[in-house]
Amino acid sequence: MAAMHVLFWFSTCFLLLNSATALQCWKNTTCSGPTDAAFPGPWEANIFAPASRTVSPVSILSKSGEFISKFLGISQLSGNGSGLVFDFGIEVGGLVTLHYSTTGQGSIGLAFTESKNWIGEWSDSSNGGFKGPDGAIYSAFNNSGTYSYTMPNLRLRGGFRYLTLFLITNGTTTVDITDIKLEISFQPTWSNLKAYQGYFHSSDELLNRIWYSGAYTLQTNAVPVNTGRQVPFVAKGWANNGTLGPGDSIIVDGAKRDRAVWPGDMGIAVPSTFVSIGDLGSVKNALQVMYNYQNPTTGAFPEAGPPLLQLGSDTYHMWTMIGTYNYILYSNDTTFLHENWAKYLLAMKFIYGKVGSSGLLNVTGLRDWARWQTGFNGSEPNMILYRTLLTGADLSIWAGDTSNLNVTWHTRAESLKTAINQYCWDPSYGAFKDNATATTLHPQDANSMSILFDVVDTSAKAENISSNLLKNWTPIGAVAPELPGNISPFISSFEIQAHFAIGQTARALDLIRRSWGWYINNPLGTESTVIEGYLENGTFGYRSSRGYAYDSSYVSNSHGWSSGPTSALTEFIVGLSVTSPAGGTWKLAPQFGDLRFAEAGFMTSLGKFQASWNLRRDGYSLTYNVPRGTTGEIVLRCLSVGKFPSITIDGRPVSREANPQLDGPVILLNGVGGSHTIVVR
Ligand SMILES: *[C@@H]1O[C@H](CO)[C@@H](O)[C@H](O)[C@H]1NC(C)=O
Ligand SMILES: *[C@@H]1O[C@H](CO)[C@@H](O)[C@H](O)[C@H]1NC(C)=O
Ligand SMILES: *[C@@H]1O[C@H](CO)[C@@H](O)[C@H](O)[C@H]1NC(C)=O
Ligand SMILES: *[C@@H]1O[C@H](CO)[C@@H](O)[C@H](O)[C@H]1NC(C)=O
Ligand SMILES: *[C@@H]1O[C@H](CO)[C@@H](O)[C@H](O)[C@H]1NC(C)=O
Ligand SMILES: *[C@@H]1O[C@H](CO)[C@@H](O)[C@H](O)[C@H]1NC(C)=O
Ligand SMILES: *[C@@H]1O[C@H](CO)[C@@H](O)[C@H](O)[C@H]1NC(C)=O
Ligand SMILES: *[C@@H]1O[C@H](CO)[C@@H](O)[C@H](O)[C@H]1NC(C)=O
Ligand SMILES: *[C@@H]1O[C@H](CO)[C@@H](O)[C@H](O)[C@H]1NC(C)=O
Ligand SMILES: *[C@@H]1O[C@H](CO)[C@@H](O)[C@H](O)[C@H]1NC(C)=O
Ligand SMILES: *[C@@H]1O[C@H](CO)[C@@H](O)[C@H](O)[C@H]1NC(C)=O
Ligand SMILES: *[C@@H]1O[C@H](CO)[C@@H](O)[C@H](O)[C@H]1NC(C)=O
Repeated sequence: MAAMHVLFWFSTCFLLLNSATALQCWKNTTCSGPTDAAFPGPWEANIFAPASRTVSPVSILSKSGEFISKFLGISQLSGNGSGLVFDFGIEVGGLVTLHYSTTGQGSIGLAFTESKNWIGEWSDSSNGGFKGPDGAIYSAFNNSGTYSYTMPNLRLRGGFRYLTLFLITNGTTTVDITDIKLEISFQPTWSNLKAYQGYFHSSDELLNRIWYSGAYTLQTNAVPVNTGRQVPFVAKGWANNGTLGPGDSIIVDGAKRDRAVWPGDMGIAVPSTFVSIGDLGSVKNALQVMYNYQNPTTGAFPEAGPPLLQLGSDTYHMWTMIGTYNYILYSNDTTFLHENWAKYLLAMKFIYGKVGSSGLLNVTGLRDWARWQTGFNGSEPNMILYRTLLTGADLSIWAGDTSNLNVTWHTRAESLKTAINQYCWDPSYGAFKDNATATTLHPQDANSMSILFDVVDTSAKAENISSNLLKNWTPIGAVAPELPGNISPFISSFEIQAHFAIGQTARALDLIRRSWGWYINNPLGTESTVIEGYLENGTFGYRSSRGYAYDSSYVSNSHGWSSGPTSALTEFIVGLSVTSPAGGTWKLAPQFGDLRFAEAGFMTSLGKFQASWNLRRDGYSLTYNVPRGTTGEIVLRCLSVGKFPSITIDGRPVSREANPQLDGPVILLNGVGGSHTIVVR
């Protein structure tokens, strides 16, 4: 009775609280996102997302970029060409509202840029790419008076940090800008942009910021479904009223551009979304649109979602299939799986139909990420096919298939692995070649994936690859030999996971700090997100060698495909990952590197998953708390190789005879759900 009473009191209180605090979401979108963080704690100080969906700039700079003052609410423009730059301090996106009063006639120009390099009257480039900067939009006024101006929906600016306001007038007009407000458009269903469903914290402040910059990037990439880039592209300026897919919110490649669904990005963006913000609804809508636009005859998926709808990429076709696996793995959304299963089968038929007599995939859908060479029997698409077959095998089990697809697809994966190792391995170098011909190119993408996806057939070869990858490194990141002169945090997201996967922890952390550390600490960037790509000389261009003259301001500074450290730090450093839908089974395999402690958590439909470790003088302690009824594999690192350590679980000693296997430098234990502490000395 008493318990019921308390419950009643609680729910009344909750209702009152809810009705008193009206939830604000984007426009009239339903607020379906979470309202509170799942794991409150000091790490929330690292969240870049603002506390409110309506924000103002934090500081004012001169037109040439010198700091003038903090943003105090009022500032003045006087005479033609006068201007100020308003710095929001982080990446933002949405619709700006200006309040101002004037002494005459004229117009105020609004120009936007992510990087400080392109502050001024022209904006960075989000639309043309080859056509140069986007220009400005204008708020015109005819008389002295008080005005309020909100950007039209069509001109929504999806990603920027700096807003330049400048005055065009014939006379001596003065404008007092009395307020600047930005209504944030991204993650439109969330009233509280800080309500993260996952977290990460460690003894390294730089890694913490990098993890949260990946998470925030993914928030900026979850956009209202009616704010994609208009296709065909407008000839001047920009237009973001394209329809992207079903639902309210959908994950696109970048905040500023392309503002389109690109499934190739989701191999990195989806795991990082899951462990951080937890917004799987936007992932589901992005995958569903690919199924909706599948070619019903051939089974091919488009390379990009509507309205862009580019076609002809075998690798992106497979990433939609792998993305389906990831989505089901994290969500256990069996309804989605059943609804799309027939289309998935057709997609598998389409891609496996391209495997030739040598056993390798003959790539004919040539489009891919920005790498130059594609096609033929490229090793990168073959690595991806291996992953597609194995993830397909798991999906077939989860879909309740009764036609033995699990075995068929495992068998095909095995013969593919044999063919790749037979034809693509370069023994004289110690890495995979770019394809099965006599090329001397050893790409970053295929080699990283060969380790991560477990295609390489011996651990000695995996070690060879890991050391050879270091040859591409510069002080600011790994240059991709398949895209010379360019550093790709997208492909480097696979490389860091490859080093982690074979326990080369120091290498993985080193590359994260070089590459992502360089960007997050770069005052010319957003200091809050992860960038699409950059040049080896440290400029923000991308793919600009070989006369392929993208305007360098076209680079997206908030691109989810570069968010690899976010999932990698959770899944390899804290070491917690799910291995079957919603975490019914899981794995806990921490790695320490040069860190002293690390912890992380995430949510599934079963509840909270959380783990942490601390080094001690004589060993380490590892605690975890996962839903009861789940089971997992625990992989404990031995502190001295080959020696069986002293282990206790919840204070009870574990004897070697009792169950653990000593497997090289690690010990395997069977884990059960609940809350447990393991001490290893
Ligand atoms: C609100 O929703 C209605 C119905 O879907 C739509 O017609 C209207 O344009 C929306 N308003 C805004 C401001 O987005
Ligand atoms: C007025 O200012 C604009 C923007 O700076 C500039 O492009 C233009 O040349 C100026 N006009 C005159 C007449 O100086
Ligand atoms: C400046 O004057 C010209 C000529 O009268 C007029 O066409 C133009 O619209 C004026 N521009 C502004 C910004 O007021
Ligand atoms: C300025 O005057 C023109 C012509 O009368 C009119 O079309 C326009 O709407 C006015 N603009 C503003 C902001 O009042
Ligand atoms: C976007 O706006 C343009 C006008 O600029 C219009 O022609 C087009 O139909 C709109 N697209 C959508 C999907 O609403
Ligand atoms: C790889 O492709 C090249 C060019 O099409 C072809 O000559 C070669 O036989 C292929 N090798 C294998 C193993 O498929
Ligand atoms: C690869 O496919 C293309 C197009 O179907 C075909 O012309 C070519 O002969 C195939 N190559 C191999 C090695 O099978
Ligand atoms: C093999 O890869 C190299 C390096 O990317 C490229 O130059 C060559 O054209 C490729 N050849 C085939 C047949 O795929
Ligand atoms: C799926 O096939 C693999 C390889 O044959 C096998 O090891 C695994 O046990 C199978 N899984 C199920 C659930 O049948
Ligand atoms: C590759 O492996 C071989 C044999 O294990 C070893 O001798 C060689 O040094 C390794 N090369 C690199 C670059 O790791
Ligand atoms: C960096 O390299 C690009 C491409 O070669 C070149 O256009 C740019 O000027 C270089 N920047 C610097 C600072 O050297
Ligand atoms: C996943 O969903 C299926 C079908 O709804 C259900 O039977 C199963 O228990 C779920 N698994 C987990 C781990 O929640």
